[in-house]
Amino acid sequence: MIKINNLSVSYTDKEKKLFALQNINLTIEKNSTCAVIGPSGCGKTTLIYALAGLLEKESGSIEIFGEKQNGIRKQTGLILQNYGLLPWKIVQENIALGLKVRGEDPKVIETKVNKILNKLDIEGLEQKYPAQLSGGQKQRVAIGRSLALSSDLLLMDEPSSSLDEISKEKLQNLILKLYKENQLTLVIVTHNIAEAVFLGQKIVVMKDSGIKDILDNPYFGDESLRYKMDFYKICLEVRKSLEKE
Ligand SMILES: Nc1ncnc2c1ncn2[C@@H]1O[C@H](COP(=O)(O)OP(=O)(O)O)[C@@H](O)[C@H]1O
Ligand SMILES: [Mg+2]
Repeated sequence: MIKINNLSVSYTDKEKKLFALQNINLTIEKNSTCAVIGPSGCGKTTLIYALAGLLEKESGSIEIFGEKQNGIRKQTGLILQNYGLLPWKIVQENIALGLKVRGEDPKVIETKVNKILNKLDIEGLEQKYPAQLSGGQKQRVAIGRSLALSSDLLLMDEPSSSLDEISKEKLQNLILKLYKENQLTLVIVTHNIAEAVFLGQKIVVMKDSGIKDILDNPYFGDESLRYKMDFYKICLEVRKSLEKE
């Protein structure tokens, strides 16, 4: 389980202290998914950074799978909006990066990377540079890097926000498939209602640095959910929560 207790995070701007997160309380079960949705500036990215151990906390604490969080955790994967790929390295090297840093055997790395390329349906792109890829493909490579490191917790900041409608759904399908195939806990930040409902077992609605609502999504996990009325029912619930004062 991930436990966030009374978490507050502040930034100092022109000597003024501004709270990006205020008294956040949230639990996320291990091997479940949580979608965090809210308007721009409500604190979503700050929450993901805090979970990744990249920020100083003003107060409160985070516990990840039984351990009190204290800085960066090896098995946590973070996928940022701009993918974080190295432009001067080809796809294969970008996926292998973390394994190489760990000093893994080159043969083991090769096998792992090939398996991941297959899983992510990006075989044939291994020799390409990030600049030669579409947004969706870049996002797959970024996910591949986290998979290579056998992350047990994957944090994603608006994974599909820069993609067109069709690529968006394809990527969401892939994320759901990966979740099902691997022992993963997923936290996905989004401002897209459909994405939150398709990928969130739990849907956290944020506003003004705080949590406004937490909705359970009993239909999560159904790959054909978009073709069912239940999907739109939950979408409507999320919409109403977002619009509520
Ligand atoms: N490094 C920073 N310095 C000062 N203020 C920041 C910084 N990062 C974020 N903020 C502020 O914190 C608030 C929350 O930001 P953020 O977590 O990025 O929101 P979201 O991801 O929901 O759009 C915003 O008001 C933003 O301006
Ligand atoms: Mg953000």
